[in-house]
Amino acid sequence: MNIHNRIGMDLASFDRLLQEVVTSDRDLTPPSVVLSSVMDLINAGGKRLRPLMVVIGSRFGDNDNDSAVMKTAVLLEYLHMASLVHDDIIDQSDMRRGRPTLHETTDIQTAVQIGNYMIARAIEWAAHSNGEPDGSSEDVSEEEAYRLAELAALVTELCMGEYDQLHHRFNYDLTMEQYLEKTRCKTALLMAHCLKAGAEAAHADPPIAERLFQIGEAIGMAFQIQDDLLDFTKPKEAIGKPAGADLRNGNITLPVIYALNDPALAPKIRQLGPHSSEADMDDVIIHITVSTAIEQSEQLARSYAEQAQLMIGEFADHPAQQDLQALLQYFLP
Ligand code: FPP
Ligand code: MG
Repeated sequence: MNIHNRIGMDLASFDRLLQEVVTSDRDLTPPSVVLSSVMDLINAGGKRLRPLMVVIGSRFGDNDNDSAVMKTAVLLEYLHMASLVHDDIIDQSDMRRGRPTLHETTDIQTAVQIGNYMIARAIEWAAHSNGEPDGSSEDVSEEEAYRLAELAALVTELCMGEYDQLHHRFNYDLTMEQYLEKTRCKTALLMAHCLKAGAEAAHADPPIAERLFQIGEAIGMAFQIQDDLLDFTKPKEAIGKPAGADLRNGNITLPVIYALNDPALAPKIRQLGPHSSEADMDDVIIHITVSTAIEQSEQLARSYAEQAQLMIGEFADHPAQQDLQALLQYFLP
């Protein structure tokens, strides 16, 4: 059984909600490249892990606030989709989920603007307390203002995580601490926010929402490390993008950091730069793939999963613990 079925989240209904927010967007009337592009992004599918985490978080609150929970799930997925539009431009990825990326089907300028529009719209929805992106204004409560500020801060950290990654391109002196902080900002914080925001939308107790944030953060770290590993270990067909793409882009991920500790491998890695030949890149990527750096990275991913497991154990008396457990099982390295 897949993870969404196990949790009891109907993916088709969720996708319909995503589509509805686009088709009901008053600024997007057909024919519109923005409208058709966003619909294409939605229809390309995706694992929908972040909305799943919102739903799981909500299980730690009360059950009667489903529309607030689903609104939170939709807007966080929308934000995630927007971030991937920008990420694919930055990473010069021409494929995602086995399909051409948005800047390939349109152009870079158009894709940047569509990504900007989606981010701005998501924040605008978050600011509407009635859940309708129709521009009607209701007073925003203190609690909602606080959540909106948290969301805005999250977007800032996402941007800074991506900026750090870009800033450190081909920087082989990137420290483990810098890598972990960048990873926390670009991936783990959004996942942490999803579990917490779901709990808050369902009025869970604040200390519970805070603990869920920490669980989401640990799961997010394990997830991104595995994503970094996949770039070395899975063939192009399996991940829908070229293997070794991170290193080709100068993105120093965990396997590279560990491989740099190998005195035989380090000089080969350090000679790589933006103008290296495909053959030199391929050679180093293969060496990293068969090095102990892979096992070391898997070990760190496992240790984050273990941290999450310990925290999940604290919810032993809670009926929703099994949902968190199923989530962790899904992410387990
Ligand atoms: C995927 O990483 C990308 C992210 C986790 C975050 C991208 C964030 C931005 C581009 C900042 C701008 C975002 C907003 C919302 C303003 P990856 O390249 O390691 O993963 P991939 O293998 O899926 O491409
Ligand atoms: Mg990318």
